[in-house]
Amino acid sequence: MPLSVPHGGRLINQINLNLDASDITGEIEMDSMALSDLELIANGAYSPITGFLGKEDYESVLYNLRLSNGVVWSIPITLPVSEKAAEKLKIGEKVKLKYENIVYGILDLKEIFFPDKTEEAKKIFQTTDHNHPGVKKLFERPNVYLAGPITLTKLPPKKADFIKYYKTPLETRSEFEKNEWKTVVGFQTRNPIHRAHEYIQKSALEIVDGLFLNPLVGETKSDDIPANIRMDSYKALLKNYYPHDRVYLAVFPAAMRYAGPKEAIFHALVRKNFGCTHFIVGRDHAGVGNYYGTYDAQKIFTQFSAEEIGIVILSFEHSFYCTKCENMASSKTCPHNKEDHLHLSGTKVREMLRKGITPPSQFSRPEVIKILIEGLKNS
Ligand code: ADX
Repeated sequence: MPLSVPHGGRLINQINLNLDASDITGEIEMDSMALSDLELIANGAYSPITGFLGKEDYESVLYNLRLSNGVVWSIPITLPVSEKAAEKLKIGEKVKLKYENIVYGILDLKEIFFPDKTEEAKKIFQTTDHNHPGVKKLFERPNVYLAGPITLTKLPPKKADFIKYYKTPLETRSEFEKNEWKTVVGFQTRNPIHRAHEYIQKSALEIVDGLFLNPLVGETKSDDIPANIRMDSYKALLKNYYPHDRVYLAVFPAAMRYAGPKEAIFHALVRKNFGCTHFIVGRDHAGVGNYYGTYDAQKIFTQFSAEEIGIVILSFEHSFYCTKCENMASSKTCPHNKEDHLHLSGTKVREMLRKGITPPSQFSRPEVIKILIEGLKNS
């Protein structure tokens, strides 16, 4: 089996670092989420998308989980600006895309529209509750959406702590080929990797050639563990517990949406663009609180054909350490009672780590815990 075909058939490349934008007068200021989306559109991670979505595509994504041409897509990639900023622009003109007053790209402005954000929240997040971090963010962003194809003219700043882990889909694909991996499983995470994550990754590694560990390092909610601390913990884990020639670590600079099932589709398609043939979806993927059912993010894939998704979804049950099995397990492999299973919620673990309390090694590797406790002490 060759590496996966990019979503929509070809890898988009809209980077032109030599583009002269000096005679373009229109300009807008983006937020950091739009900046990360700009880069990921341009380097092909979001193929087949070539720009920020227009109204037809936007509504099609909300109501049909597809772009208007029928290709599966589940998260609206939008460019929100204030009404005041939009008033200064004209359809058909080119617009400089600035972040903190530096130009990173050019938008070929095709459309300006007012979204119905309540509808967007209902469709994408399945709630309009402003306590949901994705809904909160949606309503905090400005109210007008600009749309049109983009060009990236300057690479966005990379976080110094893990600068060498930023890779484009072209680079990851060439790395997988160099390793002669025919099958690669992608793993998304916004958390430190605990034993349950390790268990499902290694279960997958038993049947594929390589693991693409692709932690999300864009904007996350404030109580998630900061990316620089997580990166140190991933490196320690890989060094001590993983076969070095079967894992490739690179970051995913997108913002976390917390959109559960809809985001699981998006996460899978993006990893397909990075070259993965398989993608892991475990319990409550991209979930938060109790907004989604434990396996909703797995079930949502059943409405598509295998060809439309183009990456094999490996679904995993909730896994845990069982004291009777003396092993990691799930309800598919363990006959024992709940009382024999080690359960620690994410909130509970974060609380322990912040107090300097070490969770048991059946929950997380000691090398990982050490880095997390130290990192959180200094953060
Ligand atoms: S996510 O928001 O990035 O999805 P997280 O980093 O917790 O959150 O999860 C990464 C992946 O591991 C997701 O596919 C998730 O479903 C899966 N996962 C997390 N914990 C477990 C668990 N205990 N059992 C099975 N799968 C899990």
